[in-house]
Amino acid sequence: MTEAPVAFRNFIGGQWVEPSTGEYIENRNPANVSDLIGLFPRSGPDDVDAAVRSAARGFEQWRRTPAPRRGDVLRRVGDLLAERKEELARAMTREMGKVTQEARGDVQEAIDTAYYAGTEGRRLFGRTVPSELPRKWAMTSRRPIGVCGVITPFNFPIAIPSWKLFPALLCGNAVVFKPAEDVPHSATLLVEILVEAGVPPEAVQLVHGTGEEVGAAIVEHPGIAAVSFTGSTETGSRIGEACGRLHKRLSLEMGGKNAQIVMPDADIDLALDGVLWGAFGTAGQRCTATSRLLLHDSIHDEFVTALAGRIGQLRLGDGMDPDTDVGPLINQAAVDKVVRYVEMARSEGDEILCGGRRAYSGHLAGGFFFEPTLVTGVRPGSPLALEEIFGPVLSVMRFDTLDEAIRINNEVAYGLSSSIYTRDIDAAFHAIEALDNGITYVNAPTIGAEAHLPFGGVKMTGNGHREGGWEVFDFYTETRVSYVDFSGRLQRAQIDTYAAAPY
Ligand code: UN1
Repeated sequence: MTEAPVAFRNFIGGQWVEPSTGEYIENRNPANVSDLIGLFPRSGPDDVDAAVRSAARGFEQWRRTPAPRRGDVLRRVGDLLAERKEELARAMTREMGKVTQEARGDVQEAIDTAYYAGTEGRRLFGRTVPSELPRKWAMTSRRPIGVCGVITPFNFPIAIPSWKLFPALLCGNAVVFKPAEDVPHSATLLVEILVEAGVPPEAVQLVHGTGEEVGAAIVEHPGIAAVSFTGSTETGSRIGEACGRLHKRLSLEMGGKNAQIVMPDADIDLALDGVLWGAFGTAGQRCTATSRLLLHDSIHDEFVTALAGRIGQLRLGDGMDPDTDVGPLINQAAVDKVVRYVEMARSEGDEILCGGRRAYSGHLAGGFFFEPTLVTGVRPGSPLALEEIFGPVLSVMRFDTLDEAIRINNEVAYGLSSSIYTRDIDAAFHAIEALDNGITYVNAPTIGAEAHLPFGGVKMTGNGHREGGWEVFDFYTETRVSYVDFSGRLQRAQIDTYAAAPY
């Protein structure tokens, strides 16, 4: 007899509870779909409503906790994540597929974010500003916004939620968290840790389910003051329309079509290492993944030959296996999307130098594996040059001058990260100024953002906000301005100030 699968729960009202719908979604290991991780709630709007109502109570309690004390709790979150790093990384690999070494990095990013947020509890600076009138003070301070909706993708199951949940909580907000349906287990472990560290149970709510049902209900709920979303540009646009209509604050992190530029004077081996990691790390399922490689004409052929050789050595497999370089894609829909793009490349007459096929053989039979794929001769303006694929597919294009490379980099709708390999300092700084991205790397791949710097992109990638670093705390707070007049008389700004000397 096989054991019944474990049914996981939502965390609502300070309790682990079943969904009001009574429905569940299976979560399976993408490296081996016969491995059932568990059943996770397919919740509905009633669960969201209960979560938001409870979070409103949690907010009233948590906002009154002094910010440095909230920081202490975040520090404990970091400690617990560090203690359980290996367990969390392994659970992540099992449900999401990325190799365990990368899963450890994902957890580490959350640890870094927790410690950074912890110290911010002793800053959260306001400003004191001189008043134009005597015996009057003017200053700003920060206050939390309320209940924040946090909707996250599958590709960084702990790190991306941490970018949103930790600063939101540090600022004194309560959160309603909806993780991607592909990674509910990591989210469950993260919420357990938040509560164990001392976040009041009603200040954090976890509602599992689909974007159409739970995500939409969070965005539309009148008790949600702000929304932070990472995912596709298409979904982000819909959330943006709703939040515009409802006057809600919204932070969006969406697609990318990131390019690595290799100049003729570059250290070629370094550039090869960079593009392999940038394009095929996390099987290309990063918003920051390198999906275009722009090669100078004079090094194009030599670079492509060397790259094809290196790609041929990458080992596909279960991310738990320490010998694996590239794990599976997240699900069948992701495989189908990659297959569609490879077919488009073929029909455009592009050359598929490596990969291009789903990998089924032997130990790969039970998972969503796709071979690391190198496509050359990609024409500007074609789908492989412009659209996000979110898989292990790298499009190679040529250029003649740096300005041409910059123009190709900038002609896509997205603007997350870019990279240039060169030893020429003038070229590097010219590129930093001219590349239209939120993040530019010099002699490093398009991935690798650090938790204490702002993260985000321009154009269709974002909506002007940044996660990470110091800027994210602005998103999760309202600025309160206070004027204190201790002159004992009515002082009229603008009028009394300039009554004697009008200029
Ligand atoms: C993402 O690309 O989806 O910069 C997030 C990186 C990571 C975060 C990436 N620190 O690669």
